[in-house]
Amino acid sequence: MGRVILDIKNLDKTYVSDGIENPVIRKMNLQIYAGDFTVVMGPSGSGKSTLLYCLGAMEDVTGGSILFQGKDITKMKENALSDLRLKKFGFIFQQIHLVSNLSLFENVILPGMVLPESTKEEVNKRALELLERFQVKDVSERLPSQVSGGEQQRAAIARSLINRPDVLFADEPTGALNQNNSEIVMDLFSELNRDGQSILLVTHDRRAALRGNRIIYIIDGAIRSELELEPYDPANLKEREEAVNDWLTSLGW
Ligand SMILES: Nc1ncnc2c1ncn2[C@@H]1O[C@H](COP(=O)(O)OP(=O)(O)OP(=O)(O)O)[C@@H](O)[C@H]1O
Ligand SMILES: [Mg+2]
Repeated sequence: MGRVILDIKNLDKTYVSDGIENPVIRKMNLQIYAGDFTVVMGPSGSGKSTLLYCLGAMEDVTGGSILFQGKDITKMKENALSDLRLKKFGFIFQQIHLVSNLSLFENVILPGMVLPESTKEEVNKRALELLERFQVKDVSERLPSQVSGGEQQRAAIARSLINRPDVLFADEPTGALNQNNSEIVMDLFSELNRDGQSILLVTHDRRAALRGNRIIYIIDGAIRSELELEPYDPANLKEREEAVNDWLTSLGW
């Protein structure tokens, strides 16, 4: 087990609309380890995305604390948070938010340009490496509308990695992809994790969940159960599938 990279203590998140309180995360305690591929599953509306947004400093919390590398991000000011999101975190969503009038290459270098310590040349070089690794280099001069959904998502992943994030957050990254493209994207995630990338993935997709070495199941904003697995290895996929299916079935999935 790696060191703790995110330490969540008594986390509460309540949305209030029209004066009615909707508690979404309830007194949650959770530690996320560096180098882990952590997966969050659970029924629709159980608070998975909310949890990811709180951990990724995109959403205010109602109570409790979230220590990232020892610092409580719930106490940070907005400019420190935007710095954190840009330099330390990477984000991938189901809806691919590429800038429509920029090429894939320009999209990928965009977050890299704000880092003062990285020169333009270094960022360009890294962008090309990522685009090549994700097999979208040949189409990198095209606009997002001129490539497939799978290619867009791979470019979005390249962009999320341009600043070498400490944690990669992904909310249903395969939700809009067909099975073939989903597998390609999940292969990339597995490869990144093998190289040491910490990943926090929210998914409904059992096949995607198999990639994790730890799966957390939440119901009504609280952790119901968790499953530890060996690091992903396609050689024993069948046993892994069985273990995960049995566990999910026992939870009423
Ligand atoms: N901005 C918001 N304002 C008010 N309520 C919200 C907001 N975002 C989410 N909620 C509510 O919080 C609860 C949890 O939502 P969340 O999006 O975290 O669920 P989820 O587990 O990701 O579901 P799904 O699997 O459908 O994506 C839901 O009841 C939802 O309606
Ligand atoms: Mg969600």
